[in-house]
Amino acid sequence: MKRIIFILAMIIGCLTINAKTLIVYYSYTNNVEKIVNELSRQIEAEVVEIEPAEKGLDYAANNYAIGSAQIGAIKNNPDNSSSYPAIDPVNVNLDEYDTIIIAAPLWWSQMAAPLQTYLFHHGKEMAGKNIGLIVSSASSGISGVEADAKRLIPGGHFLSPSLWIRSSQTSNASSMLESWLKDIDYERITTGIEDIGKDVAACFTVYSLSGRQLMYKSKSIDSLQAGIYIINGNKTYISR
Ligand SMILES: Cc1cc2nc3c(=O)[nH]c(=O)nc-3n(C[C@H](O)[C@H](O)[C@H](O)COP(=O)(O)O)c2cc1C
Repeated sequence: MKRIIFILAMIIGCLTINAKTLIVYYSYTNNVEKIVNELSRQIEAEVVEIEPAEKGLDYAANNYAIGSAQIGAIKNNPDNSSSYPAIDPVNVNLDEYDTIIIAAPLWWSQMAAPLQTYLFHHGKEMAGKNIGLIVSSASSGISGVEADAKRLIPGGHFLSPSLWIRSSQTSNASSMLESWLKDIDYERITTGIEDIGKDVAACFTVYSLSGRQLMYKSKSIDSLQAGIYIINGNKTYISR
């Protein structure tokens, strides 16, 4: 009987897990936008687009002169907010999200400047959250963008690996995203569930609500009193 109630409680627990994902992106020539549109088809997430305050700039003109100047200004003085190009206000409450996916174009081997502006002002609010990084570049490797993300999101829990999609691969984004989500274990991260059947048949660690460990890798809950417990540290179940 207790086992049946436990399974029921697990299902209730599963239903009440509410891990939300936010995708934050910037896109100038729409490659990242296409990637984000595809990602939104594969996962449940809210999406925020960063837009430069100054409209109509041609970042690619004169051998990418404007983009180059913006990246140069940030590199010269990364701690000063005046180094970052102004962006439109972004209306999002980051407290609501456990996982944030940053989707960025690469500019001169760095993260595109407008996205850096957003993270300069809000990256600190992402401490402790899962951070996924997707980068689109023509050909350059993405380590500079990864470094920017880590500098601008101190305390972020970075999911590994980042996903690099070259511009020429944009049309393959669907399958690349699908395998990346598996690589970062997205399902488990956002639901806290690996396999309910396996959990029940296997063993679990039980904590009191105050965080005291009551059972370690136990195969049976028979000795548990009626009450509310945390199992495996990230799920709440009720045992009656
Ligand atoms: C200002 C600027 C600088 C760029 N610098 C690089 C570079 O250094 N290496 C590279 O491989 N691609 C570079 N690119 C190309 C972009 O990374 C690539 O086209 C990407 O897919 C753009 O994403 P988007 O279409 O979402 O804007 C640059 C593009 C711009 C606009």
